[in-house]
Amino acid sequence: MKVSRRSFIVKSLVAAIGSFAVSGRLNAKENIRTTKQRLRNKPLVLSTWSHGIEANKPAWDVLKANGKAVDAVEKGVMQTEADPENTSVGLGGFPDRDGNVTLDACIMDETGNAGSISFLQNIVHPIAVARLVMDKTPHVMLSGKGAFQFAIESGFEKTDLLTDKAKQAWEKWRLKANYKPVINIENHDTIGMLALDANGDLSGACTTSGVAFKMHGRVGDSPIIGAGMFVDNEVGGAVATGMGELVLKTLGSFLIVEFMRNGMSPQEACEKAIDRIKQKLPDYEKFQIGYLALNKQGETGAYSIHKGFNYAQYDKKGNNLIDAEYLLK
Ligand code: GLY
Repeated sequence: MKVSRRSFIVKSLVAAIGSFAVSGRLNAKENIRTTKQRLRNKPLVLSTWSHGIEANKPAWDVLKANGKAVDAVEKGVMQTEADPENTSVGLGGFPDRDGNVTLDACIMDETGNAGSISFLQNIVHPIAVARLVMDKTPHVMLSGKGAFQFAIESGFEKTDLLTDKAKQAWEKWRLKANYKPVINIENHDTIGMLALDANGDLSGACTTSGVAFKMHGRVGDSPIIGAGMFVDNEVGGAVATGMGELVLKTLGSFLIVEFMRNGMSPQEACEKAIDRIKQKLPDYEKFQIGYLALNKQGETGAYSIHKGFNYAQYDKKGNNLIDAEYLLK
């Protein structure tokens, strides 16, 4: 009888699990975990928008060399932060209404440790500062002048982040100064990244210059652990992009991880979190939100309010840009 490869793998797994159960070395819960571990798609890195294609490359270099997920996500989003052509992250980000580029970022590792900076100015790599907050301080979050002071004392250089392109856009905006912070559904935004390394550990990172021409001092979802990004190494991780106020009001990334903890797939969890926004926030149709999720088994999910959200996934099959499903058809 011809046995297909898939049926052979399934039969082998069942036999292996059976022998563990018979020998009593694993309980039922451990059996399930063992099965899932064998089915993992790893390593894998996942990031928001088409700028994720370039960001995934340095992250993948870390992962394929058996590096840690936390190093992969840090290296990955640093690529976007340093790109002056990208107007929503790091260097070249659009400024606030007063002409200041202010940055938010956060990072979380497989141990549940987290670091974050908000309202940081004149530093090209806010994610690397957030990483140092996580690794070298007793705190989770530093903000504004304190975050800048910490960065300079840690050896980062002071850099003017306002490029000519961003300055021109701001000057054009100032002619009308119509402050209506609607994120156009085609407007690329925050880079959020999730990785599962060869060891099976998860980490996440998120970095942005926030909403263009925002009020001075405005902080969005991206540096808030549980809003812009959340990882629980037992379950999975999630990141958010889009109008941060909606994500903050529903604590989107934490919500998605909790949905996955309760048995949902990453796709179901992202859809349910968008549905929560729909249920709770009446003007949700005016804004775009995109969620990405990754579970411990390497399964992924993505969902947004409007058409136009996409994400980049780099795994053994290559680095691919994928259009997310969306609510408003
Ligand atoms: N999601 C980025 C922001 O609202 O600042």
